[in-house]
Formats: sequence, C-alpha cells, structure tokens
Amino acid sequence: MLQLLLKPVLISAARLALNSGPTTPTSSSANGRNLSSNKKNAKPYLGFGLGLRTEHFQEVIDSEPAVDWFEIISENFMVKGGKPKYYLHKIRERYPMVMHGVSLSIGTTDPINFDYLRSLKTLANEVQPEWLSDHLCWTQHGGINSHDLLPLPYTEEALEHVSARISATQDFLGQQILIENVSSYLTYNDSSISEWEFLSAVAEKADCLILLDLNNIYVSARNHGFNTEEYLNGIDPARVQQFHLAGHTDYGDYVIDTHDHDVVDSVWDLYAKAILRFGPVSTMIERDDNIPPLADLISELDMARAIAAENPLHLQVR
Ligand SMILES: [Fe+2]
Repeated sequence: MLQLLLKPVLISAARLALNSGPTTPTSSSANGRNLSSNKKNAKPYLGFGLGLRTEHFQEVIDSEPAVDWFEIISENFMVKGGKPKYYLHKIRERYPMVMHGVSLSIGTTDPINFDYLRSLKTLANEVQPEWLSDHLCWTQHGGINSHDLLPLPYTEEALEHVSARISATQDFLGQQILIENVSSYLTYNDSSISEWEFLSAVAEKADCLILLDLNNIYVSARNHGFNTEEYLNGIDPARVQQFHLAGHTDYGDYVIDTHDHDVVDSVWDLYAKAILRFGPVSTMIERDDNIPPLADLISELDMARAIAAENPLHLQVR
C-alpha cells in the first residue's frame, strides 16, 4: 500500500528536448584530470562540473568557462545527428563528460529494455564519458512511461530484483554504472529498511557505484522526516563517485525537487558534511528549469569549490 504524500513531479520536458538534422563530427579523447582517490574503482576525480543545458551550448564553446566537466542527459542525445549532437561533440572536444540517464527504469518489473541499452551504449561509444549514471527508481510499467522517477519499496524482494537488473545492465554496457538516490513524496508500507540501507545494499550486491544527490536527500528528509546525517553515515564512502547539488521549491509542509532555484543553504551545509564523510567527490550543479545565465551557475560552482577547499580531506587531492 502506498502512503501518498504528494503526486511526484514530472520530469521536465525540457530535459528531453530532442532535435534532428545534419550529421555531426566525431568526439575527441578525454582531457580529464586523473587524480587519486580511495573509491572502489579506477574512475577519475573530475572536480566541479555543471549539467550541460541547451541554453548554454554556444557560450560554452565561445568562452570555454572555468568548469571542470559537464554532465549530459543521455536521452537528449540518443539520436542520429542533429544540432544538439553537433554541440555535444564540440563541447566534448574541450571538456570531460559524464552521461546521466532518466529512462533506464532499473526497478521496473518490465523486461530489461535492451533496445534502450543498445542506444545508450552507442552514445557512450561516441562520447566516451568518464562514467554513466541513472536513478534507483522505476519510471515505467507495462511499456507505459510515467516520465517520473518513482521510488521503490525498500524490501528484500526489491533488493534482489533491482540488484540483478543493475548487474545485467553493467554486463551489457561493459562497465560499472552509478545509481542515484531519487527525491520522493511517498513511501510504501511494505518497506522494511531505510532508503540509505537499501541504496547501500544495492550498491554492494550489484557492485555498482553511487551518485549521491544531496538535494534529493534533503527533499526526501523534509517530506518523510528522516535525519540527513543518518543517511550520509549509512552510505559506504568507497561507493560514492559523484555528488549532485540542486535547488528545490519549499512549500513549508513539503518540498518539491524542481531544480529551478539556486542551491539553498541547508543543502550547502549538507554538502560540507558530505565532504567530511566521503572526501573529495566529483561535484556538479544540476539545474533543469528556470535556467539562469551561465555565469550564475559558475558562481554556484565557485561556492561548491570554496566549501570543498575548506575541508582537509578535499585538500589531499588538490
Ligand atoms: Fe540528481
């Protein structure tokens, strides 16, 4: 049974803005830094990145801003050719990239969508990202896509189910993937463990990595009343490969993960605590709506840099 708090927010259609057009040049090799880390993998520490958004394509190419790396929404580029692909390759020539998906629906009971995975793998072969990620959720059932990132019940059955699917996905893609905690507005009466225990157990069982979205932790903590530090303390630092930071909309009694505001002070505070626990982790600002000028996002990124620079664990890899 569901305990419905709020109807979850639809994934912004802007995140899935597809285009078509002329074919594009191929990508060049990565120019990412390869700093040391204690993570359970050989993936590099990238520093401080931004989500790449259409509004900033040309400015990124023209001005080559002080951004260490970009994250793309995979589905926006899973097409042959087109103007977005042209910009993608131009920017990829200049910056390291990671790929972030919203349609894997890893927790669904539908069969694994190998057509989707083939398209994802094709794009990954083009982009040569540092890593790929998606969400610990389900987005579709019976072939119908909700365009929403719906939480799973935190049960033994769901753990077995989703871990096996992540393992199969990693086998198909030939690499470890990162799984992100989602924000949520409902819980299941059947859940027998906490979200952080479930996320940790999945990462261990599937041998995948974690993209920890600190804003999502904050949003869900406000909506469900759990303790954010207890969440952080329940996650194995060796599994955490990336942080997301984002803004939300606060309605007082509840919080919606809208990604249309600046990062709030409470999430910056949580970021500082996260660095203390997890050490240096590649960090990015995730803005999906009400997109501000690029300079504003770079200012937010400077805030992340400043908070990280105050932390002795972060200084170890600078
Ligand atoms: Fe996120």
